[in-house]
Amino acid sequence: MPSLNLAIIGTGHVGLVTGTCFAEKGHRVICVDSDTSKIETLRQGGMPIYEPGLEELVRRNVAAGRLSFSTEIAPAVRVSEIIFICVGTPPTPTGQPDLSFVEAVSREIARNLDDSYRLIVEKSTVPVRTGEHVRRTLEKYAAKGVAFDVASNPEFLSEGTAVRDTLTPDRIVIGASSKRAEEKLRSLFETFNSPIIVTDINSAELIKHASNSFLAMKVSFINAVAAICEECGANVEEVARGMGMDKRIGRAFLRAGAGYGGFCFPKDVEAFVAVAESLGYQFDLLRQVQEVNVAQRERIVRKIDKELWVCKDKTVGLLGLSFKPDTDDVRESPALFIASTLIGKGARVRAYDPKAIDKARKAMPELTCCADAYEAAKGADCVVLMTEWEEFRRLDLDRLRTVMAHPTLIDCRNVFEPASVRALGFTYRSVGRP
Ligand SMILES: NC(=O)c1ccc[n+]([C@@H]2O[C@H](COP(=O)([O-])OP(=O)(O)OC[C@H]3O[C@@H](n4cnc5c(N)ncnc54)[C@H](O)[C@@H]3O)[C@@H](O)[C@H]2O)c1
Repeated sequence: MPSLNLAIIGTGHVGLVTGTCFAEKGHRVICVDSDTSKIETLRQGGMPIYEPGLEELVRRNVAAGRLSFSTEIAPAVRVSEIIFICVGTPPTPTGQPDLSFVEAVSREIARNLDDSYRLIVEKSTVPVRTGEHVRRTLEKYAAKGVAFDVASNPEFLSEGTAVRDTLTPDRIVIGASSKRAEEKLRSLFETFNSPIIVTDINSAELIKHASNSFLAMKVSFINAVAAICEECGANVEEVARGMGMDKRIGRAFLRAGAGYGGFCFPKDVEAFVAVAESLGYQFDLLRQVQEVNVAQRERIVRKIDKELWVCKDKTVGLLGLSFKPDTDDVRESPALFIASTLIGKGARVRAYDPKAIDKARKAMPELTCCADAYEAAKGADCVVLMTEWEEFRRLDLDRLRTVMAHPTLIDCRNVFEPASVRALGFTYRSVGRP
């Protein structure tokens, strides 16, 4: 396979991992970002995000001269055959994603196209038909007669397992409108040993929104079942196990918990509803998915209320702040919702997370951040486990109990075995389990 020159525009969770993994495959990659401090951090050998295995991969590929970082789009576009757009597509108040970063980057790419053919690939999660807008923008701002194609290659990585997901994806989706674009991306992904699906661009864009919305639906479904279990004394873990063994259903994403969060699911479900509406379809099913997700967080608050009766002046230890384990991403984290609700009710919240403390502190300066789980639990009337970090599974619960004022543990991720925790003297509540 020939080594290609690639540009990655937007060096965030997706861009940095994608660019690094392409470099690992032997390509020469320039990762660009408008955030100068992020690029400076990377140039100095630091990491702007925590993602298992990524730091070593970045270091190795930088040392090999295959991976570099820049704040300038122009030189990266000039030397690259394939340009990936990986910028953020955050939500707007209407639910439609903000595509201004995608548009700005498209204009900048256009201005730097020349005689040689370029393939511009949207990797950011975008509404169906964005590819058409990107193409029109490129035509409008590029010099006449330049040769380029637009393609879609949606990203399906999960934070926490992003490197593995990128190097060995379940499938690679290529949305292409020309044979040339398809062949170029096929050759780029040739060594990934993953099935490749080639579609038109609109379908590729829809695959991404439909996939994330479907996964969110599974999460809300099992959380709704958990609510029923709590009322009738059944055990949601066993219900999920019994369901998941049916191959048509599958086990993945059937874990009752605190609801989905993060940068993707909330905004992607919202965007899919808005996109559908703009096309004349009311996606009420997904509206319900969103409502169940919000209700799940509120159920946690009610559980805490029930145990504390009055939250004012009580101390709550919060274990886990990232929206899931193995990432420091706190965007749309259920833990931050719980923390701000409790603080709003007058509680003192003492929080700990193995990796996300710095980002959580930035997002919520009023949080009291602690050095470990035991410090967070010190003097607590209740400890709430919000993120299932491996470290929490190995907690010394005896020690935790002794530092607490009152041994109440609310396990929002069903990490512990109810009978054994209760045997240690805790009042223990989890999700959908007696
Ligand atoms: N995070 C995930 O797990 C994930 C997974 C799959 C898909 N996605 C999608 O990928 C896209 C990127 O997500 P992310 O999590 O990497 O976002 P992010 O916020 O971590 O990174 C986006 C980066 O783009 C940069 N940027 C914005 N405007 C720019 C410009 N004009 N020029 C250069 N850089 C610019 C920002 O500074 C930022 O570093 C989104 O559409 C997201 O929905 C994310």
